[in-house]
Amino acid sequence: MTQEKTTISFEGEEVELPLVVGSEDEKGLDISKLRSQSGLVTYDPGYANTGACQSSITFIDGEEGILRYRGYPIEELAEKSSFLEICWLLIYGELPNAEALSQFHENVMQHTMLHENFRSFFSSLPKDAHPMPVTAATVGALSTFYQEKETERSIQETTTRLIAKFPTIAAWAYKHSIGQPFIYPSNEMDYSSNFLHMMFATPCEDYEVNPAVSQALDLLLILHADHEQNCSTSTVRLVGSSQANLYASISAGISALWGRLHGGANQKVIEMLDAIAKRGETAQEFVARAKNRDNPARLMGFGHRVYKNYDPRAKVLKSACTKVVKSLGLSSKQLEIAMELEEIALRDEFFIERKLFPNVDFYSGVIYKAMGIPVNMFTVMFAMGRMPGWISQWQEMRRDPSFRIGRPRQIYTGPTKRSYTPIESR
Ligand code: CMC
Repeated sequence: MTQEKTTISFEGEEVELPLVVGSEDEKGLDISKLRSQSGLVTYDPGYANTGACQSSITFIDGEEGILRYRGYPIEELAEKSSFLEICWLLIYGELPNAEALSQFHENVMQHTMLHENFRSFFSSLPKDAHPMPVTAATVGALSTFYQEKETERSIQETTTRLIAKFPTIAAWAYKHSIGQPFIYPSNEMDYSSNFLHMMFATPCEDYEVNPAVSQALDLLLILHADHEQNCSTSTVRLVGSSQANLYASISAGISALWGRLHGGANQKVIEMLDAIAKRGETAQEFVARAKNRDNPARLMGFGHRVYKNYDPRAKVLKSACTKVVKSLGLSSKQLEIAMELEEIALRDEFFIERKLFPNVDFYSGVIYKAMGIPVNMFTVMFAMGRMPGWISQWQEMRRDPSFRIGRPRQIYTGPTKRSYTPIESR
């Protein structure tokens, strides 16, 4: 990293601040000494201009619609890689050779079981609970079963456990919600097929995994695997910066992902498409409502804090969606409405002006629905995909020599000093 400097002046004093330049020539003002040199803090609601770390994991150019993991374009990885290979790439920085990948696969598949006590853990939660808080609680609870002291080796073991056990946790959360017996993992299957098996098999009936469905799932997991400093990843880093363990940090990340403006949007997209169909509303009428500032409706799955262009993941998913729906011999009303909404919005001045394009969630819900994944599990699928991203970002943060606990400042706007009023005088 080359370093240049820039100067800002405040109340007649000049403060010299270094510039940090990234490998893609992204420039950032290093303000780490700003307060000690000038008394100033920065104010940046939603952290839209704040670089919270230096990272070598994922590169996004939102203006150009570029996404790369460790330098590899997402389009190429989506076409040629597998989810477990992506896990390795994100966590260890390079693509694995055949032997390392096969070893990793074996290792992951040997850690897929949950402690038997989790059966009663799930059973103690309400059946109608959303699976996101159920999975967040279960991941947090893993740290009560694995209490070893944190070492480099234990971090690697935790990494394997989280990737291996999350599909079991997700499928068991679903089985609990529908009152079916939990299905144990099947370690001879590939990662995505094993998840589908635990979701859809029952003790009385085997489930034959459709390769088109498990390939589509693997693709979705790849596309969700990392997205640099988004809300849930920043949460994982912030929680981990207090030296909380990986389970606790990732449990917090799952909770952050649940919100409708983040990972929860995939569920909201399908609900929006269903509501449009149910009301018999035209796509044009819905877009008009989404533009109306007095109406809370938003075109879910559109817009992104970083992408001011077509989200490259949405591009991959749009074509995968059409293929999967066709290969399963389905017709999808939701897909039809989604494509119509997209066409109208992309030609509409409101969306053009604000640079609002389809994001990853616009088509992911439609494809999950076609695959038979229940709507309330969509965000859990996102969490499964994001797991290696959260883990690699957490590990990078912990190894960063400039690591410090995350602790933002504020601009205080409350009352100035005043005296306590006794209760009888209030
Ligand atoms: N429909 C209608 N108007 C929108 C939309 C939308 N989907 N998204 C943004 N706008 C408008 C917004 O009202 C605002 O208009 P104005 O300038 O007149 O006030 C302008 O565009 C800028 O929006 P913002 O909310 O200030 O932008 P942001 O960067 O803070 O928010 C976002 C980004 C993703 C939260 C937002 O675009 C949104 O709510 N989209 C719908 C939810 C969604 O699809 N979320 C998934 C994000 S991708 C998956 C992930 O990474 O989690």
